[in-house]
Amino acid sequence: MAATVIDGKAFAAKVRGQVAEHVARLKAEHGITPGLAVVLVGEDPASQVYVRNKGKQTVEVGMNSIEHKLEATTSQDDLLALIAKLNADPSVHGILCQLPVPDHIDGDTIINAIDPAKDVDGFHISNVGLLGTGQDAMVPCTPLGCLMMLRDHHGSLSGMNAVVIGRSNIVGKPMANLLLGDSCTVTIAHSRTADLPAVVRGADIVVAAVGRPQMVPGDWIKPGATVIDVGINRIDKPEGGTRLVGDVDYDSCAEVAGAITPVPGGVGPMTIACLLANTVTACCRANGLDAPQGLTA
Ligand code: GUN
Repeated sequence: MAATVIDGKAFAAKVRGQVAEHVARLKAEHGITPGLAVVLVGEDPASQVYVRNKGKQTVEVGMNSIEHKLEATTSQDDLLALIAKLNADPSVHGILCQLPVPDHIDGDTIINAIDPAKDVDGFHISNVGLLGTGQDAMVPCTPLGCLMMLRDHHGSLSGMNAVVIGRSNIVGKPMANLLLGDSCTVTIAHSRTADLPAVVRGADIVVAAVGRPQMVPGDWIKPGATVIDVGINRIDKPEGGTRLVGDVDYDSCAEVAGAITPVPGGVGPMTIACLLANTVTACCRANGLDAPQGLTA
């Protein structure tokens, strides 16, 4: 039986629709327009594309987009001064500094200078700690998107065996904490894990977030398991040109899995949708209002 394909593009459009409804309500009932500030330092081409897409989608759901594009030579002190200004600005509810920052700037110092209540990336150590202790946190966007898709597909995740492959601060670790919060039995696997195939074969849920193209073959997957592929890797096509692939070998995994996210069109579109969801959540909390249901962890 071929796996159900989890359509992240359609799901992300639904999430953006919900965000737009909440934004309209905040405007109509409270006279508040959520604002997201995105800071880009330098001219990394991939970052420029991300930042442009974030700004475009922010405006599309009715929020204010504030973009700060700084020279690659901007000093850390100048960047910290901008963050301080955005922290103090009541019209800014979410702040994101696009990573990576240039080498002369310490990314952790910048992230931890953002007001945790405005940290819509969920990278500030306070939010990491809140998530790790099961308290209300701003949750990193990609793992939040994965969780939303898993909840939508399964309803309850309670008691399921989940294996997260990859231990990054941005995806692997927060994903594991979110799955634990939904009462999964969670294993974090990584490059030093002994007998990775056997570990993955025990999983009802596999989240692959390693950044290695097509690393997980179908014969590692337990029949009927759900496979969430966070990878976005560009590889050469034999006939010339390139194509995007995930961290799992899609064709062989789709033959065995119960459900699978494709690349592209799976997890990818959910990341910006969740950034917008986090911005609405931050705006609601800043104004003493309940965060929208279904858009938070
Ligand atoms: N660079 C690549 N992904 C991300 C992300 O999710 N947030 C930020 N701030 N930078 C990134």
